[in-house]
Amino acid sequence: MTDIPVLTIDGPSGSGKGTVAQLMAKKLGWHYLDSGAIYRVLAQAAIKHNVDLADEEKLSDMAESLDLVFSLNGESLIVLLEGEDVSLLIRSEQAGNAASKVAALPLVRAALLNRQHDFRQLPGLVTDGRDMGTVVFPDAKHKVYLTASARVRAERRYKQLKEKGIESNISALEAEISERDDRDSQRDVAPLRPAIDAVELDSTSMGIEAVFEHVSTLCADV
Ligand code: DC
Repeated sequence: MTDIPVLTIDGPSGSGKGTVAQLMAKKLGWHYLDSGAIYRVLAQAAIKHNVDLADEEKLSDMAESLDLVFSLNGESLIVLLEGEDVSLLIRSEQAGNAASKVAALPLVRAALLNRQHDFRQLPGLVTDGRDMGTVVFPDAKHKVYLTASARVRAERRYKQLKEKGIESNISALEAEISERDDRDSQRDVAPLRPAIDAVELDSTSMGIEAVFEHVSTLCADV
């Protein structure tokens, strides 16, 4: 255990947690960990090396030695897998689904724990994911659980993808989002759920600015 402060923002896909986490990291001057990106990169590495997404032993070995580098280019998170820029590739819905499959494997989650803990550096860490407040940083002082209806999350995802030049369909996105929610919340290990000491926020009818202000108020003592 360490005294280095952590703010965790957990929630389902498209809840806005990544955007709010990045804004908070910038405001506080803290480090930022997008834990979902680690699962996305691992799934991408598996696809690249023809490893079955259900092969738990091989995937956990890969997770231990995953050649992954995160860096910031202005506001954008750059993700390198084995030196190759996969920042855009890992953001597709297929990549999210593949990530959700490898993330359900207990040995994979265990293999990625230390890698996530390494991000806890001074002056502090803001991190988003599914189990940041429950499993990875249970001693975090500030925990938020952000939700929104599946429809609204699908609409937001549609806009995000469009901005990145990726065409999609809102109803198909909503179905994929619901399927991923089910897998992430029903798995045996580290399922998606609020920590008992998390502040729950429903952003269905809140803009990102309002959520950011609310979370800023929660962290006013930092
Ligand atoms: O946050 P995201 O959509 O980029 O995450 C992609 C998948 O990775 C998500 O469907 C489940 C998994 N994940 C997880 O199991 N635990 C985390 N802390 C973060 C993501």
